[in-house]
Amino acid sequence: MMYKNYLWWQKNVIYQIYPRSFNDSDGDGIGDLQGIIKKLDYLNDLGIVGVWISPIYPSPMADFGYDVSDYTGIHEMFGDMKDFDELLKEIHKRDMKLILDLVPNHSSDKHPWFIESKSSKNNPKRDWYIWKDPAPDGGPPNNWLSVFGGSGWEYDEATGQYYYHAFLKEQPDLNWRNPEVQNAMLNVMKFWLEKGVDGFRVDVMWHMIKDAKLRDDPPNPDHNEKLNSYSRHIPAYSTDQDEVHDIVRKMRKVVDSYKERLLIGEIYLPISKLVRYYGEDNKGAHLPFNFQLLQLPWEASKIEAAINEYEGALPPEGWPNWVLGNHDKSRIATRVGKEQAKVAAMLLLTLRGTPTVYYGDELGMEDVDIPEDKIQDPQALNEPGVGQSRDPERTPMQWDDSENAGFTTGEPWLPLMKNFREVNVKKQWDEEGSMLHFHRRLLHLRNKEPALHVGDHLPVYTENNLLSYMRSYNDKLFLIILNLKNSEENFTPGFFWKGEVKLSTHPEFEGKEMEGALRIKGDLGLLIEVIVNEYT
Ligand code: NOJ
Ligand code: MG
Repeated sequence: MMYKNYLWWQKNVIYQIYPRSFNDSDGDGIGDLQGIIKKLDYLNDLGIVGVWISPIYPSPMADFGYDVSDYTGIHEMFGDMKDFDELLKEIHKRDMKLILDLVPNHSSDKHPWFIESKSSKNNPKRDWYIWKDPAPDGGPPNNWLSVFGGSGWEYDEATGQYYYHAFLKEQPDLNWRNPEVQNAMLNVMKFWLEKGVDGFRVDVMWHMIKDAKLRDDPPNPDHNEKLNSYSRHIPAYSTDQDEVHDIVRKMRKVVDSYKERLLIGEIYLPISKLVRYYGEDNKGAHLPFNFQLLQLPWEASKIEAAINEYEGALPPEGWPNWVLGNHDKSRIATRVGKEQAKVAAMLLLTLRGTPTVYYGDELGMEDVDIPEDKIQDPQALNEPGVGQSRDPERTPMQWDDSENAGFTTGEPWLPLMKNFREVNVKKQWDEEGSMLHFHRRLLHLRNKEPALHVGDHLPVYTENNLLSYMRSYNDKLFLIILNLKNSEENFTPGFFWKGEVKLSTHPEFEGKEMEGALRIKGDLGLLIEVIVNEYT
């Protein structure tokens, strides 16, 4: 494909902002839109183009914005529509793109649609949600569970029926089999697209349609008491139904009626099922999020197999993508350790496909221990002990070494990481060897070299803790060697090569010429430009 035919979201990096925690402009301890605007130059200078912001709509905040009570408004905590328009303008002024979070599977129970739906059995909006009569014994209609613990069904005394909620009872699931619901949500998409928004990240896309017959989910033989209660079942009937692909196609059609807009789907499924979300003829989601790096053990052989499986499973026109962190999972620096975090960044930013960087990971931010009385996440509060808290990865961004790391002049909504005086943007920006400095240079190199952002992926066979591959485009070839352990390993490729290290987790290697077999020390990542001549 000609270089100019690649789209912005294929060539560039996406950065996820969790708006409550990015930057607070008004001292209420919670991040906001004006706060984000102030940091756009930072993102731009870092080399970021796509900015995805987690939900900013009016919401009772039962699930911190993933419970929307007005799909076309702005929560006053974050600002107002004027602030939003300014944000969009400022983003576009910098040739950057804005991706909004769309939460179509469920609304808040305070959304006027649900209030109406709940008001009586014959309200015109009754069928906008999933209402069912009790089972003969008076219990819930079937065995479907809530991801956040307990039954997925909530009984409503007044009308004598249950409604289904895959998440909190404050997040009733919309009935996507109802064409009125489909229209309403497609109109929401149009509203934002008309404003000029560049795309959506669609929340829990694989949940959107459930089995029409409401069949019970089968038991999960691998469940044990240490796991959350949701994993008692395999959600075979409550998620990932064939009909979901018709819905995704409709969403894509709306997105495609505007120029160069992007549709991302949040989907936690094995690769074989995930790739179906690209849709027939590639008319589904542009990027069904690939979460393998969030889930796999940090082992070279497993990750290598996953890369190859993914590359092999992609449909012909399907564009790959990789995610290393998000607001629902433990931070990468905590999962793999500080030393490996640079190796992980090099992996994320040199693999073929669009990478998503979670805010703060560019600094090496870690999960923060939250004292019990400060826990905010409903996932943890609902199922104490087993429900994993997501607060640790949602703590305020660390901008400088002033009080509250420059995030707020007030009381931050979640405690800051204790080491923010060492780990912050101001200190690390120009500091050789720091995580941020490394990220910045890696992003710039990636942006500059077509081989690194649109080039082919060529696996290189290694049999130990090393992970290696090449990226090539036209006459440029890069070799990436990553040591995923802290012990030394031998790199013994089955071919001869010679090249120069362009970037490394360890700056002392940069500029060095290397060739053939190598000893690779622990935690080392090398990005090498291979000299291409008649022998290569
Ligand atoms: C996925 C979101 O990423 C998560 O934060 C949220 O709690 C659930 N969807 C429910 O909307
Ligand atoms: Mg604020």
